[in-house]
Amino acid sequence: MAKIEFGSLAFVIDEVRGKRHLLRMKEGVRFSTQFGYIDHEEIIKAGDGGVAYTQKGVAYRVFYPTYSDYVMNIKRRAQIIYPKDSAAIIMSGDIHGDQRVLESGIGQGAMSIALLHALGGKGQLTSYEIREDFAMDAAKFIGEYYGDAPNHSIEIRSVYDGIDGEFDRIVLDLPEPWHVVKHCGTGLVNGGLIVCYLPTILQAVTLVEHLKASGIFEEIETFEITKRPWKIDGRSVRPEMWTYNHSAFLIKARKVVPMPVRENAPEKEADSEEAMPEED
Ligand SMILES: C[S@@+](CC[C@H](N)C(=O)[O-])C[C@H]1O[C@@H](n2cnc3c(N)ncnc32)[C@H](O)[C@@H]1O
Repeated sequence: MAKIEFGSLAFVIDEVRGKRHLLRMKEGVRFSTQFGYIDHEEIIKAGDGGVAYTQKGVAYRVFYPTYSDYVMNIKRRAQIIYPKDSAAIIMSGDIHGDQRVLESGIGQGAMSIALLHALGGKGQLTSYEIREDFAMDAAKFIGEYYGDAPNHSIEIRSVYDGIDGEFDRIVLDLPEPWHVVKHCGTGLVNGGLIVCYLPTILQAVTLVEHLKASGIFEEIETFEITKRPWKIDGRSVRPEMWTYNHSAFLIKARKVVPMPVRENAPEKEADSEEAMPEED
């Protein structure tokens, strides 16, 4: 378990406005707020789940930041995949230890941390990123929360130009993932999964058309994840007035050996594609 100490992160929330702050603990440093100051030393003494007070007596709840606390509260240069979607990518992509996972692009590195967590120190995560400045920032961002990741490498290159080697899983968050479909013939194992994150439905349609036309993908699913927070406070029990609206569409597909054309193949039932899938 990560501990709050000098050099570590801490996440503090004030009791007046519920404002959240992500801090790096430093010896001899004070956290200055509109309600007064708290020495970092006092935050460390309070510990995970504890409480620290400004010299004016305002309380701050103290936590070690979760993954969501970290990625949602850091200053960002690239649009990240939010935790509700990264969780769905990991589950629908069946991503876990021992796998070779290719991610592109790395952006801020938020999805990379989620993938490293899923791999649990095993397997290998390779990130292809065209922008060196993003790659450098992402490496720093990942290191600050996850620490050293010997099973992670970043390569400055375009995934549209090809994939070196063979992967078990591919996760894409870039504008035109359909350019990658042709590289999956050799870049993704048979039975391997690809999951793509796309903000617009036109991108999703183009990708699905390419996946189908390739003849090497089946089990194609397009979906989105909606998070609808509720307020539960005494008799006031209702959905929150604000809500997370659309983030992106997720498209998942599984690589297959193309089905040989057979003269005596049974005819596909007209509505078989409309059948209700088993719940997962
Ligand atoms: C939205 S960001 C990814 C954010 C990331 N998933 C996260 O959660 O932090 C998209 C990234 O894809 C990169 N990119 C765009 N086209 C690319 C390509 N052809 N090959 C590799 N990276 C690419 C961009 O430079 C950018 O860093």
